[in-house]
Amino acid sequence: MLSQINTSEKTSIYLALEEKFGAHNYHPLPVVLERGKGVYVWDVDQKRYFDFLSGYSAVNQGHCHPKILDSLIEQAQKLTLSSRAFYNSALGEYEEFITNYFGYDKVLPMNTGVEAVETGIKLCRKWGYEVKGIEKNKAVIVVCNGNFHGRTSTVISFSSDESAQNGFGPFMQGFISVPYNDIESLESVLNNKNIAGFLVEPIQGEAGVFVPDNGYLAKAKQLCEKNNVLFIADEIQTGLGRTGKMLACDYENVRPDILLLGKALSGGILPISAVLADDEIMLTIKPGEHGSTFGGNPLACKVAITALQVLKNEQLVENANLMGELFRNNLNAINSNFIKEVRGKGLLNAIVINHPDKNAAWNFCLELKENGLLAKPTHGDKIRFAPPLIITKDQIEECAAIIKHSLISFQD
Ligand SMILES: Cc1ncc(COP(=O)(O)O)c(C=O)c1O
Repeated sequence: MLSQINTSEKTSIYLALEEKFGAHNYHPLPVVLERGKGVYVWDVDQKRYFDFLSGYSAVNQGHCHPKILDSLIEQAQKLTLSSRAFYNSALGEYEEFITNYFGYDKVLPMNTGVEAVETGIKLCRKWGYEVKGIEKNKAVIVVCNGNFHGRTSTVISFSSDESAQNGFGPFMQGFISVPYNDIESLESVLNNKNIAGFLVEPIQGEAGVFVPDNGYLAKAKQLCEKNNVLFIADEIQTGLGRTGKMLACDYENVRPDILLLGKALSGGILPISAVLADDEIMLTIKPGEHGSTFGGNPLACKVAITALQVLKNEQLVENANLMGELFRNNLNAINSNFIKEVRGKGLLNAIVINHPDKNAAWNFCLELKENGLLAKPTHGDKIRFAPPLIITKDQIEECAAIIKHSLISFQD
């Protein structure tokens, strides 16, 4: 039986405020967070939880990481925004740092993840016209069914999620969608002179942590090379250690032509995103052709450098790999009918629920919340488990025990 969901008076006040004054574009779990530290968050009643969403993988380095906060505070006291009308003393340092870190000639800094995706699309089209020689306005980008790349009107134009599209048309032309993890389907569309790029998530996160077969990414990259098509990796959720490698593409030694990063590039402190590419691609965009007021602001530059340093200095990639394996082993050992499948890589994992009630995943998340662990269903019957990468062995075991115990009381 689902335990009684307690919503304190204080919590109810916050819920009512958001209900009355905020747009209703989200359906959050009824918990109001006030504070975070490491793998933990606290609600307004000072109840502590393990955060198993990590701001949709933005908080890989843990909540309020002290080193990242120090960078933020130090730079905030000097200069927060210059705009790109002028140079600033942090941007060049950041550009050098991040391009060396990932091995690309150039970076184009943006803010939210979807802006990086938009930039990647524009850059790919520009390359298509100027380098590949595609006829004006004929460029096509291949995407995958079940993708999630963000919420702008261009990006939802190639979503296969009805609720993302419904009521928001008309849609942008120039995309074709193929089934994910299906190399033959990809091959069948690439041999067309108007195809400029293939945009792909190395693991589909929002779709429910859908991990493609080994070899899919490497074969897709080979096909792109053969057909002179850019391979664009959206590593906004999968990148920066989340899957147990610095980039999920590293599992198959694939080097994307255009690499999109966001989320954990700031450790969850600011919206910071980045597009990385080599000169042949990046220099097709000229002054005045693309930009952002906040992209490349000095605060973001300093925060991103520290956030990337923390990933390496604290060996978070290695930890994600080890802890992920331990977590999946623990989940598999639970051996419950309720769990149809455990899947994932590193610390990007999900369970698929086996239950006739379509609200079962949501109700189970409420039960987890009662027991001190926050997670959120994605696409109905899946629950993503993605804690900060700093999580320890003892904490993983404690969390697996919470999940097991929650299942027992849920099924009673
Ligand atoms: C793979 C992927 N791409 C893009 C985005 C969009 O990022 P943002 O919400 O910062 O715009 C997300 C967000 O969840 C994502 O998971």
